[in-house]
Amino acid sequence: MGSKCIAVLTSGGDAPGMNAAFRAVVRSALSFGMKVYGVKRGYNGLLHGDLEEMSMRSVSNIMQHGGTALFTARSPEFNTPEGVQKAAATCREKQIDGVVVIGGDGSFRGARDLCEAGVPCIGIPGTIDNDIACTDYTIGYDTAMNTAMEMIDRIRDTTESHDRCSVVEVMGRHCGDIALNTGIATGAIATLVPEVPFDFQKDIVDRMKAAQATGKKHYIVVVAEGVGHTQELTERIQKETGIESRATVLGHVQRGGSPTLRDRVVASRMGYHAVDLLRNGIGNRVVAMKGEDIVDYDITEALSMPRVFDETLYRISAKLSI
Ligand code: F6P
Repeated sequence: MGSKCIAVLTSGGDAPGMNAAFRAVVRSALSFGMKVYGVKRGYNGLLHGDLEEMSMRSVSNIMQHGGTALFTARSPEFNTPEGVQKAAATCREKQIDGVVVIGGDGSFRGARDLCEAGVPCIGIPGTIDNDIACTDYTIGYDTAMNTAMEMIDRIRDTTESHDRCSVVEVMGRHCGDIALNTGIATGAIATLVPEVPFDFQKDIVDRMKAAQATGKKHYIVVVAEGVGHTQELTERIQKETGIESRATVLGHVQRGGSPTLRDRVVASRMGYHAVDLLRNGIGNRVVAMKGEDIVDYDITEALSMPRVFDETLYRISAKLSI
């Protein structure tokens, strides 16, 4: 039997497009005649009964905004067996027979635990990092990359005026996808990602010197957050090349702002898909993108998949950056 009453929450780091997914879950559920609750501040809302019944109008005028209208949190209390039981008890009390969790891997582990406690859950990948193995795309990734690209374009203006080198750190704790793509899109001389070890002399200094010999006078180096040491790296570049260098850490600016069309549409499709699974009595799945298709995987299987870094794109970026 399919779910009749579901809840939706956003958990972990927010991402532009989460509101479109939330909206799609609420509107799809209501249109199928289901009851739907919006849960505040991730799993904390289930622990403390902070949830509200939604109407069609509850999700009006939110899709174009960044952040999450449901608020979000990382919940250490939920990550205990007692916490999971308490959240499951809230679901039983409200007769919630399906939960949609919009977030990253950590949030999916919580969803798996809640599934094991008897509440069918569906995960929707929402994180700017694109670091979830089972999906080619995560909600927020496109917006974050476009924001980073625009910021780096601005940095380039001043870098060029001063014949300098700018080292720009973009987000991505364990994943270099934002760095790799923004590096290509902004013509970086070097892009450093956590997935590929780098050689300071060969991959940065020699590359800059070779470009200098062809007349290049300003340089952008993009570094993924997971590589770290951005300030140190910048000082070393200045010392070894003699080119005046500046460091910029883009930080949380990449997590905000109005979501791009791609993020809004993918989030809407994923939100609908999640509700469609629950109404057909299918739980314990993660919604994912494979190419341009929306698919779903068993949640435990999804969590054990290895992440694949795009080595081909990385090689292309190295060829073009000269
Ligand atoms: O997971 C998304 C992300 O933005 C990472 O890129 C970053 O390392 C992390 O979240 C930052 O988390 P917080 O906002 O808790 O500092």
